[in-house]
Amino acid sequence: MPLQRIDKILASQNIASRSDTKTLVKKGLIIVNGLTVRKADEKYDPLNSEIIVNGTKVEYKEHLYIMVNKPKGVLSASRDKRNMTVTDLLPQHLKREGLFPAGRLDKDTEGFILITDDGDLAHKMLAPKSHVYKLYQVICDKELTSDDVKKFSDGITAGEISFLPAEMKITGKNSALVEICEGKFHQIKKMFQSIGAEVIYLKRLRIGEVFLDESLSKGECRELSNTEIQKLLSRKHGID
Ligand code: URA
Repeated sequence: MPLQRIDKILASQNIASRSDTKTLVKKGLIIVNGLTVRKADEKYDPLNSEIIVNGTKVEYKEHLYIMVNKPKGVLSASRDKRNMTVTDLLPQHLKREGLFPAGRLDKDTEGFILITDDGDLAHKMLAPKSHVYKLYQVICDKELTSDDVKKFSDGITAGEISFLPAEMKITGKNSALVEICEGKFHQIKKMFQSIGAEVIYLKRLRIGEVFLDESLSKGECRELSNTEIQKLLSRKHGID
């Protein structure tokens, strides 16, 4: 990793603004690799340096990967003038410049949304060719049948749009689990419309091989583990 100015490193980790860093440096409160930093523009390798600010060791993270349990009514956007967005849900210690939701859930959809500042990973996850599988819990206004399951597995065409084969597992009269490997606009709702049903509840339960942590209440979030980050791009699939 290229060397970076200490003020830039601390700003990127949301630890101190550039002007705060100047003050901390003046007070001798920043120590890197055992030596007191004398200038805010001194450069270090953030991944291989021990940085201590005001007595606390900095856990440098190049990127953040945050699982949010999105509630209804919250927008999948970084900011919005009128509505609350998924990034507004983040606690202060997980806020930093450049975070965005990797993918979208409709305003009335709940469940797993990933917030990150890793553009490469988000691109890989969202690229149509990647075929990352996503699992949804669906409640609709129609009794589902094995005929509907077959239509989904054959691949649905709705007007001009066609969807790749999807797996549906009926879990109740009006409810199902559905796994898709695309992320087209209103995809689940449109697929259900094509079988004459309206979606009345929708929740995303899994991205790749990573399940929504059910211990997260609506609106809560947590960082992903390294293993989970690798599993986001998994192409393994199948409901069960
Ligand atoms: N499909 C939809 O129709 N809406 C979502 O929010 C996600 C998938």
